[in-house]
This record gives sequence, structure tokens and C-alpha cells, in this order.
Amino acid sequence: MNQNVIELTNVRKEFVSTKHYPGFKGAVKGLFTKETETKVAVDDISFSIEEGEMVGYIGSNGAGKSTTIKMMSGILTPTQGTCLVNGIEPYKNRKVNAKNIGVVFGQRTQLWWDLPLSETYTVLKEIYEVSDEDFKERMNFFYEVLELEEFIHNSVRTLSLGQRMRADLAAALLHNPKVLYLDEPTIGLDIVVKDRIRQAIRGINEKYNTTVILTTHDLGDIEELCKRIIIIDAGKKIYDGTLLDLKRSYGGSCNIHFEMKEIPSAEKIQSIHNISDKMGIAVKKKTLSVNFNKNDFTVAQVIGKIMADIEVTDVQIKETELTDIVKRIYQNGVEAV
Ligand SMILES: Nc1ncnc2c1ncn2[C@@H]1O[C@H](COP(=O)(O)OP(=O)(O)O)[C@@H](O)[C@H]1O
Ligand SMILES: [Mg+2]
Repeated sequence: MNQNVIELTNVRKEFVSTKHYPGFKGAVKGLFTKETETKVAVDDISFSIEEGEMVGYIGSNGAGKSTTIKMMSGILTPTQGTCLVNGIEPYKNRKVNAKNIGVVFGQRTQLWWDLPLSETYTVLKEIYEVSDEDFKERMNFFYEVLELEEFIHNSVRTLSLGQRMRADLAAALLHNPKVLYLDEPTIGLDIVVKDRIRQAIRGINEKYNTTVILTTHDLGDIEELCKRIIIIDAGKKIYDGTLLDLKRSYGGSCNIHFEMKEIPSAEKIQSIHNISDKMGIAVKKKTLSVNFNKNDFTVAQVIGKIMADIEVTDVQIKETELTDIVKRIYQNGVEAV
């Protein structure tokens, strides 16, 4: 236990492409000069992940998430730095690596379009040399957590998106890989299917101690599944820590709006301001807004203090959501939050 399954050390990935100029002149120019452009997709990223961890790898579009995952799955070679997955460099030994990892892309299937699903699994069993006993045991488990039986005899092309995702997950896990990469696994799914997929991922992690790296736009996935998150922006790692710490450091703020029965007098306003210098208080006509950090007060305490002093007709509570925190981090970087 507690062994690092994944270790990235100063990993950098550059993409070099030929510059294109617009129009006919540009095309002619392109024939004679080959100017190139270098795009740094992943910029000096290091992290390690222990066996059995479930980590959310998040960042806005183009941040470098998929590129990182492609290096960890052996599809791309880093320009600099090293990436170790289960002790090997994936891009140097793709065959061995394939046995150690499972990959699911939300937007495209790895399954054979025309085969009945049941046969797909039989073929994969042979490819990955899974024993009869293991096959039986795992398929039984997937039947249960992914509820495959409703469509196991259907061909892949007839499956709904949600069914296909469940089928893809089972396919990626049939050889019991140490590491599972999930790239947007719940994209486009309705809430019921999302929930089932999340439960299944949790179940698989518990049963097989599978290490899971998850990229997603759906922060609900992260909240439900990952204790730890790594945030990248423009190829750089900008946060690596627990979700709880992220929320504590950046997300403690809470805002409560009180609708008062009448417009308070100047004295009254002064006395509200005197309740605590740790609350940000603003009064506008009959509306009183109180801003505070949940490390200082609970919501109940604040409501209690205000209502002891003023007659209130309505209360609205607005807590900072994970989405807001992440949005702020993307926009301003960790320092500025
Ligand atoms: N094969 C490629 N050739 C050139 N540029 C690429 C290639 N793949 C990705 N990029 C660029 O690298 C950056 C990171 O892309 P990607 O890893 O796909 O981001 P994400 O998955 O976080 O949305 C983007 O600017 C993207 O345009
Ligand atoms: Mg991507």
C-alpha cells in the first residue's frame, strides 16, 4: 500500500507544427519556407499518485489534461522529463503499459460497433489473457454495479450513451488494471445514469483498489469521487491538494441576505456593524447583506445574532460553491484568490 503508482517528474510536452499563412500567397510561401510554431501543452508538471487514490485532474479547455493523460497512457512521449506508471515509462513500453492501465473516453467508444456486447468481452478476455475464473468473477461484479444484463446481448451500435459508458467502463476494467484513466466519463449523461456511473467507479476503487485519474467538467463528479484534485492551467500545475483544503482556503465564504421588516435607523445600522468586525455588513434600504467566513461563524450563529437585533421577514443563504472557487482560480491563479 501507499506506493506511488504514478510519478511525473518535470514533464513537458511541446507540439511543433508548420505555420500556415492564409490565401494563395500564403500557400506559395509555405512551399518554400517551413516556419514552425512551438506550442507548450504541458509545462514542467510533477506529481505522484499513490495506489488506490482517486484524483480529479481539472483545468479549462486546452489546459493540457488530455495531453498529460496521453503521456501516462503511452500514446505521447514527453519532450522533457519522465513519467512513470507502475514502474515503467509508458511510451517506451506500450505493450506492458497496456496491461497496467484502462482508459475510458466519454466522447468515443473503444468497443467494436457491430459486435454484441457479450462477445466484445469474450474477445477482450482473450486479448488480455484473463483466466476463466477471473473473467467470471469480474463479469459478475460488473453485471451488478453497472447493471449490464439489460443490454448485454445487444450490439454496441444500438446502445444509448449511458449504456455505452457503462459497457466501456467494464471493457476498460476487464483485465483489472492498476490505473484507470477516465476522460469526461459522465459527459452528456442524465443525472440518474451519472449517479450510477459514479457509484460503480467508487465500487471498483473499493473492491480492486484501482487508482483512478479523472478529468471532468462536471465538478459533481469530483465532489462525489475525489478527495484530491490537481488543477492545471495553460500547461502548468496551479493546485495540488485535497478538495477539503481547497474549500477551506478559498471557499469558506458565505453570504446571507436578510429582508428586514422596516428600513433601520442609523443607530440600528451602527449596532449591527458592532456585532462583529469579522462580518462584512451592507445595508440597502430593507436589505441587509452579511458576508462572513465559515471558519469564524456558523450560518446559524449569524442568523441568530442578526435576528436577536432586528425583525426579519425573509432570509436567503448563498454559499460559495466549488464551481465558483475553481472559476476564480482559473481566472486569477491561486495567488489572487
Ligand atoms: N497534436 C497536437 N498538435 C498540436 N497542438 C496540440 C495537439 N494536441 C493538443 N494540442 C494543444 O495543446 C494544448 C493542450 O491540449 P489538451 O491537452 O487537449 O487540453 P485539455 O484536454 O485540457 O482540453 C491545447 O492548446 C491544444 O490545442
Ligand atoms: Mg481534453
